[in-house]
Amino acid sequence: MKNLNPATQINPGLNKAECIERLNMLIPESKNQHTLWMIQLGSETKDLWEREFLQSISLKNAPVTLGRDFYSISLNEAANARDLLKTIFPRWICPILHQWPVNPRSEKFVERACSGIQNKLGLEWQNLQVLSATPELKKVVTGIKGRLLQLKDNSENTAASNKSILVILVHPKGLLAGLCGEKLELGSGYAGGLGFLKEKSAHSDTDESQARTSRAGGKISEVLAMLEELKISSKEYPNWLELGAAPGGMTEELARWGASVTAVDLAELSPLVKKNKKVTHLKINADELRTADHYDAILCDMNGPTANSTKIVAKLIPTLSSGSLIIHTLKVTSFETLKAMIQLVERIFTENGAKIIAIRHLFHNRKEVTVIALRR
Ligand SMILES: C[S@@+](CC[C@H](N)C(=O)[O-])C[C@H]1O[C@@H](n2cnc3c(N)ncnc32)[C@H](O)[C@@H]1O
Repeated sequence: MKNLNPATQINPGLNKAECIERLNMLIPESKNQHTLWMIQLGSETKDLWEREFLQSISLKNAPVTLGRDFYSISLNEAANARDLLKTIFPRWICPILHQWPVNPRSEKFVERACSGIQNKLGLEWQNLQVLSATPELKKVVTGIKGRLLQLKDNSENTAASNKSILVILVHPKGLLAGLCGEKLELGSGYAGGLGFLKEKSAHSDTDESQARTSRAGGKISEVLAMLEELKISSKEYPNWLELGAAPGGMTEELARWGASVTAVDLAELSPLVKKNKKVTHLKINADELRTADHYDAILCDMNGPTANSTKIVAKLIPTLSSGSLIIHTLKVTSFETLKAMIQLVERIFTENGAKIIAIRHLFHNRKEVTVIALRR
């Protein structure tokens, strides 16, 4: 029978098989292998990462601290972005293709740094991300950004190559630079994060369209930014079931993205979220739900023991249709228990028909990681 809905006729979106194919590239394959990388990694997770999560990747030396959460690492054997991103904790990663060990406060640093980068890495990138490992170097970052964009504007040979993101990290002893093919290869779409609550502070704004309810909204925003990189939108995932939704930081991000959300929580939603027409509040214990067959995705941010929240989500997975998304925040009281928790969630999700496609410690995750899975 012909589909008579005019909206879907104009732009039907992807079918679920196409979504599955794209989502399997959430951690993209990359042929490019490197031994030197710059990474950002929470200092509270660094030791655990080295000890328990690097597995097949062996470090040549201990990670070199560049300031705050930024490190450079050297590997015994070349690895690609996918290998490193599977180790969960790096917030973002980029191969190091150029190093310039000169004090950023030295004379003409910006000018000399930019001509070195131009000579070594060219100007054929599409996207530029410059960040400082310490706050005092922010001015240098601004100078580098401005100068490189000016050089690119003045250059004739700037046709974008397949290496399209230039990442530069300025640290107290110099700078590191690298190129990578796409935002998802960086791990997060944006080296340094989305700056979610910094830019759009929670309810301090008089403009309701900009106000944010909680930090938690940043967690789903990061996931939605990844989906956008895969050209997946709310057209493909219009109806979400959210478990543990109050006060509604994630709910409002999903609604802003264009999804309709059934927000499950015994606690109240914030007034702003409550009056959103795309949100329905179901004031029940999520354990009472028996099916999620009306939904394209489940988002869970329930607190309490992870084993409980995982069982509640797992019970609903078989009722989802193939290609449905499951975004599950896995909360731990101590990171030391995380590996065992991940194994438990992997087992329970697999038994119930879901495949985990990524586990990430996002910029907005605290003592938790975000599991992204697909109904097979
Ligand atoms: C960390 S908060 C969620 C924050 C929320 N995601 C946001 O963006 O604002 C955890 C919530 O899970 C809810 N919760 C815990 N267990 C639950 C259950 N069994 N059923 C429904 N909600 C539950 C709590 O009431 C609490 O509001």
